Amino acid sequence: MKNITLGLLGFGTVGVGVADGLRKNGALLTRRTGLRFTLGKIADLDWDTPRDITVDPALTTTDGFSVVQDPGIDIVVELIGGTGVARELILAALEAGKPVVTANKALLARHGAELYRAAARNNVDLRFEASTGGCIPIVRAIREDLIANRFAGIYGILNGTCNYILTRMEAEQAAFEDVLREAQALGYAEAEPSLDIDGHDTAHKTTLLASLLHEAPVALESVPVQGIRGLSPEDIRLAGELGYRIKLLARIECDNGDIRAEVRPALIPRHSLLAQVSGPFNAIMVKTDMADTTLYVGRGAGRNPTASAVLSDVADVARNMACGCPRRVPGLDSEQPAVAVKSLAQTKAKYYIRVSHALADTCPDPVRACLKKDGLNIESAVTRPLSSGHAAATACVASPTTEERVRACAARLKSLQSRHEQPVWMSIQEGL
Ligand SMILES: NC(=O)c1ccc[n+]([C@@H]2O[C@H](COP(=O)([O-])OP(=O)(O)OC[C@H]3O[C@@H](n4cnc5c(N)ncnc54)[C@H](OP(=O)(O)O)[C@@H]3O)[C@@H](O)[C@H]2O)c1
Repeated sequence: MKNITLGLLGFGTVGVGVADGLRKNGALLTRRTGLRFTLGKIADLDWDTPRDITVDPALTTTDGFSVVQDPGIDIVVELIGGTGVARELILAALEAGKPVVTANKALLARHGAELYRAAARNNVDLRFEASTGGCIPIVRAIREDLIANRFAGIYGILNGTCNYILTRMEAEQAAFEDVLREAQALGYAEAEPSLDIDGHDTAHKTTLLASLLHEAPVALESVPVQGIRGLSPEDIRLAGELGYRIKLLARIECDNGDIRAEVRPALIPRHSLLAQVSGPFNAIMVKTDMADTTLYVGRGAGRNPTASAVLSDVADVARNMACGCPRRVPGLDSEQPAVAVKSLAQTKAKYYIRVSHALADTCPDPVRACLKKDGLNIESAVTRPLSSGHAAATACVASPTTEERVRACAARLKSLQSRHEQPVWMSIQEGL
């Protein structure tokens, strides 16, 4: 039986999960693959902090490069994170002819082109199933299971922290800051939450998914990003009354060879499958020409779910090695720089528009008149007192239009606002 020796870089949350998964399910992996998996070396900077797993001290080191260069290591598993030393270690491993498995979305989103090229040059696998959607096998679904399909688009809830916060805000009619604090206390949000709540983590994953659809690296900085900071419970309630739920939505659409993408809070129909995905779960809906709509749901983060995806990549790469066919599924190897995605702003959509006004005002007539000037019609509207009790809000669904028109309209609607805030608008994603 062939033995496959792993070199682990980073022994934090996911690294420990991988070691624990191998300990608990190693025999199962062996039965299913016919290969034996062992940990050959583990690099981490800190070996003093106790972890809930014991490892042979002879396997431990603080020098990641000694793992990468060790001729006894067959597969390098990078779980350090970030775009610094992780990039150097992965490049060194690929140049040494070793396949790499990583969960590092930030690195792939920023430096994917360079890494995919290095993997192709050295004819080794570079796999990253755990980088997007945690345990959800979305990379494999796109690259293998849906290989006969043309892709129309992907709609995803890709950040568990944001989804947890939005779910709690809706359930408790609570303010964003209060729920964020609760999420931090429960460990669903980081002490420094900006990567998640400002949408950047979702943008990293969106960039990777867009690259998979485009079959070439996509430029992270070209993806427009808006997070959930500042969303009000009022909008969540009013959207609900209009038949929608607000989610931080990753949208990727394929349009005659172009890729359009963005990350933004958007309204989706309450009865849609995607709207039912609550709490820390992730969901990815893929639309294609043959399979039509497929939906993938699961835990988008966490020690064991993420380690599950890492080990699935390890098993796959090991099978490729055992049968002498590295890169059985070719990677994304582009000689070109990453391409910019196009904007979705010109794509027509329905819009949610909300104005706050004095209690006595008879809305939505002035709102309707204002929208009409931009050729927009109100399909449905609600007017409700705000929780302060001193003002009211009118929220409406405007018939399909472009973002440009909604922006122009919102600027004019400002005159109706009774308070020092802007009218709120968000796109509505139907057809999910
Ligand atoms: N956690 C999740 O649920 C999850 C989900 C999906 C993807 N991911 C991705 O998985 C990767 C790992 O995440 P994580 O949550 O496991 O991070 P983590 O808990 O912070 O673990 C990273 C470990 O790497 C160590 N490290 C830092 N610099 C190092 C170096 N030069 N050499 C060796 N070790 C070094 C860190 O040590 P110190 O603590 O001493 O710095 C830490 O123990 C990231 O790319 C992340 O985006 C994580």
